[in-house]
Amino acid sequence: MFSERIERLRPSPIRAILSVIDRPGMVSFAGGLPATETLPDWSGTASADVLQYGPSEGEPTLRAVVSDRLRALGLDAPPERVMLLSGSQQGIDLVSKLFVDPGTPVALESPTYLAALQVFRLYGARFLDLRRELERAALAYVIPTFANPTGACADDAEREAIARRCRDAGTVLFEDDPYRDLAYDPCERTPIAARMSGGSWVYQGSFSKTFAPGLRLGYLAASEDLFGRLVMLKQALDLHTSRLSQSIVLAAITDSGWDARIDSLVGFYRARRDTFESSLRRHFEHLAEWQTPHGGLFYWLRLREVSGAGPIDTRPLLAAAIDRGVAFMPGEEFFPNEPLRGTMRLNFSHASAQEAERGLHVLAELLTERGAAGAPG
Ligand SMILES: Cc1ncc(COP(=O)(O)O)c(C=O)c1O
Repeated sequence: MFSERIERLRPSPIRAILSVIDRPGMVSFAGGLPATETLPDWSGTASADVLQYGPSEGEPTLRAVVSDRLRALGLDAPPERVMLLSGSQQGIDLVSKLFVDPGTPVALESPTYLAALQVFRLYGARFLDLRRELERAALAYVIPTFANPTGACADDAEREAIARRCRDAGTVLFEDDPYRDLAYDPCERTPIAARMSGGSWVYQGSFSKTFAPGLRLGYLAASEDLFGRLVMLKQALDLHTSRLSQSIVLAAITDSGWDARIDSLVGFYRARRDTFESSLRRHFEHLAEWQTPHGGLFYWLRLREVSGAGPIDTRPLLAAAIDRGVAFMPGEEFFPNEPLRGTMRLNFSHASAQEAERGLHVLAELLTERGAAGAPG
């Protein structure tokens, strides 16, 4: 089940000792802890504890709060099986280390998250198609809720089918869920991992999209057979996630204003999506097709075909777009194997309405000049 390197994985003896040195009366000659009195004086800013080394799994209080939230979604995620991550990107690395050797089959949606492909490739994964080949994969990586890059949200039957197929085939489910709170229209969002009882799974989320990506704070929960090894891999990787980031996030999400903050964020992005949609209609009606995303941060465009010639590859367009002051992500980059040409991912959360209008106008002009399709919008 695990990658070959896991045979060489051992728990850190020093990490185990560090967890007991705070006991009253304990004299520790273990570890390389700086003397507490030499740490910077942060009284009034944050507790001095955050400047000392901490547990690899994360702060117990934050693990408990995250656990409550995950349990409310239906996940079997007690605090002792929740771990804080230095960004959920780190979870992709940990899970890859746990399972992927050169040639290990990993089932993916196509297209899927670019930086997950980067990590899986680095460890030598062989990519399989989630729809057709999940049963032959060791690991199935999915973003069922407001996917990156498509914005798609899987319905109840699709979620149930993935969970059942993973359970039946003994394929480990790896669910990546950083966008779930950014929901602009009602849709099914119950994690697939909540249906994995009896199977092996890892579920991860992030505070990057709802709070602050620069803090690098994410979390994972995993089934019992996987969690301990993921902790050992985390020990070996960075000892633990920044305690300062954890304390800032703990204060934010337990604040009475947190729910109101999410509501207002969702309202703000919904309005951005709607104005982006109007600009898209104005400039891209004749050039591309798309589905309005019900959540997340992206539009996924499929350029219309020029008669007989097939859609153009958008990768070579990027340099010209940048010359005119507009950046976008060529969709071809998001495909594990053979790319679908004529696809683009457009983020709608960052640009103002005026910037979006100008940027889409420039992109449409560029595509029309290159004979991408149809009449100019
Ligand atoms: C699907 C997906 N997973 C993981 C990440 C990484 O997020 P972070 O490391 O900031 O938590 C992103 C960031 O865009 C993402 O889109």
